[in-house]
Amino acid sequence: MRFIDTHTHIVDEAFEGEREVVIERAMAAGVSKMVQADVDSIERAQMFSLCEANKGVFFPMLGLYPGSVTENWKDEISELEGWFSHGPVAIGEIGLDYHYGAETKELQKEALRVQFELAAEHDLPVNIHLREATADFLAILKDCKHLHLRGNMHAYSGSVETYAELQKYGDFSLGIGGVLTFKNSKLPEVVAAVPLSRLLLETDAPYLAPVPLRGTRNESANIPIIAAKVAEIKGVSLGEVAAVTTQNAEKLFNL
Ligand code: NI
Repeated sequence: MRFIDTHTHIVDEAFEGEREVVIERAMAAGVSKMVQADVDSIERAQMFSLCEANKGVFFPMLGLYPGSVTENWKDEISELEGWFSHGPVAIGEIGLDYHYGAETKELQKEALRVQFELAAEHDLPVNIHLREATADFLAILKDCKHLHLRGNMHAYSGSVETYAELQKYGDFSLGIGGVLTFKNSKLPEVVAAVPLSRLLLETDAPYLAPVPLRGTRNESANIPIIAAKVAEIKGVSLGEVAAVTTQNAEKLFNL
């Protein structure tokens, strides 16, 4: 069985000194490819060099994370340009986060629009981080309908209705992670309603470890725990979840 982790942060300091072991454990669990989310210029060079050193296993995204959008966001965006030649598989993680960034709302919206244009210009999918900003996100997406965006809603926390709304303005899959296993999570209803062909597996490691590991450092080797929960909800085999979600990820990110 083969799995893909479509959103992880191996560059995070939580993995310092242990990256080799983390990769080995992922491989042993069948997680053969890991898409690395970009955050900002502070960790970008290291992230790309880890991807270069682990070609065919790690795949870099390129983008400015909403939590890293500040007054200097235009400088951060102009730094992205030089990295397109290093083979990013998506623009991400980009989006809106009003939970932590309420005071930078306007800047986040501008940065998102510019990065949507970059995605269209370079014909790349987008990897979206969205927290407490659904209405504004949908409004921007509607304005950008002409860009024919495709992508993935990372750590999706929205409703089935919002999923349907997203499809009006682009082609969006849902990233499903450890939250699916949390008590009181609304995500099982969404997973039940949305076709398997529109779901991708992800960890967001080192964050969001699934039950029974909740609260510990997450890693890509935990993907099969999430896949098993998807299989249970869908009433299909683990093998089918592995095969379909792997195909979905390879197609979207051209892995
Ligand atoms: Ni992330």
